[in-house]
Amino acid sequence: MTSPDSITIQRPDDWHVHLRDGEILGVVAPFTAKQFARAIIMPNLSSPVTTSADASAYRDRVKAACGSADFTPLMTAYLTDTTDPHDLAAGFADGVLTAAKLYPAGATTNSESGVTDISKIEAVIEKMEEISMPLLVHGEVTDPDVDIFDREAVFIDRVLQPLLDRHPGLKVVFEHITTQPAVQFVRATGPKLGATITPHHLMINRSDMFKGGIRPHLYCLPVAKREQHRLALREAATSGEANFFLGTDTAPHTVAAKESACGCAGIFSSPAALELYTQVFDEEGALDKLEAFASLNGAAFYGLSPNADTVTLERKTWRVPETVSVGDDALKPFMGGEEISWKLAG
Ligand code: DOR
Ligand code: ZN
Repeated sequence: MTSPDSITIQRPDDWHVHLRDGEILGVVAPFTAKQFARAIIMPNLSSPVTTSADASAYRDRVKAACGSADFTPLMTAYLTDTTDPHDLAAGFADGVLTAAKLYPAGATTNSESGVTDISKIEAVIEKMEEISMPLLVHGEVTDPDVDIFDREAVFIDRVLQPLLDRHPGLKVVFEHITTQPAVQFVRATGPKLGATITPHHLMINRSDMFKGGIRPHLYCLPVAKREQHRLALREAATSGEANFFLGTDTAPHTVAAKESACGCAGIFSSPAALELYTQVFDEEGALDKLEAFASLNGAAFYGLSPNADTVTLERKTWRVPETVSVGDDALKPFMGGEEISWKLAG
């Protein structure tokens, strides 16, 4: 079967984005707003977004950074050991908050104020289950005795399965899944558990991080895994199944912060994210499943309507910018300097 040279889908959403704050926010937000109608905005700022009031103020800053773009930021609260369930519920009822994010303390960037033990937020989780507020999880254990490549699989056994057993009504998104066990677990669990998949985890495996030398711009958390896992993610994303949806996890850090003796985790994918997903679906002969993954499944999971308008992607070779300036520093986009084969029209 020949593959088409253009594809039109309902306008997509990005269910996992880091937009940062201040100068970086102003630079990166337009990339997301150009491609996506809505996005779930992660709350792990250097001073985390822990309350409804914080989320409301941050939403105003995000909207200001997007200017006149037709874009709706969907806000999240960062859970801590002392999160107030009533504040969370009030923010959800007001429409300020769409979800809350569980970062195990120490798991990733700006997670120091995260949850030290899930038992500490039992009352919060009970409330979220009662009001059907989605819980978004960074699914890695932080136990230093667990090998970094095993932290997601161990999280399923030690934390996620017991959590879902205790709270069968809780809606959970297993964010940025990276492994075959995660794919299998999501499939086996049913409609209350969704999962986002990033473009980079569909495109790179752990060896790519070390191709010809260490490549800090390919380092993120959860770290990329073996090839068999990348293939399992590609199969899941392109299956069209309702539990799997688009979440770029675009996570910009400056070149200075990435190219350092202890470089930050995060891949800045937003400059070409939708196009890269399209390329992957094309490579898999699954362009007919792109709309489900990018535009339908996530909205349905969150109980929202799909977007009414459409976007068109064209088969067209172009080069992703090598750098994006931020003040005196720069950001390096995923696939920066490389040619890719699909381009968003307009
Ligand atoms: O690689 C990552 N970067 N993973 C995360 O979980 C957080 C993110 C960030 O905020 O930089
Ligand atoms: Zn993230």
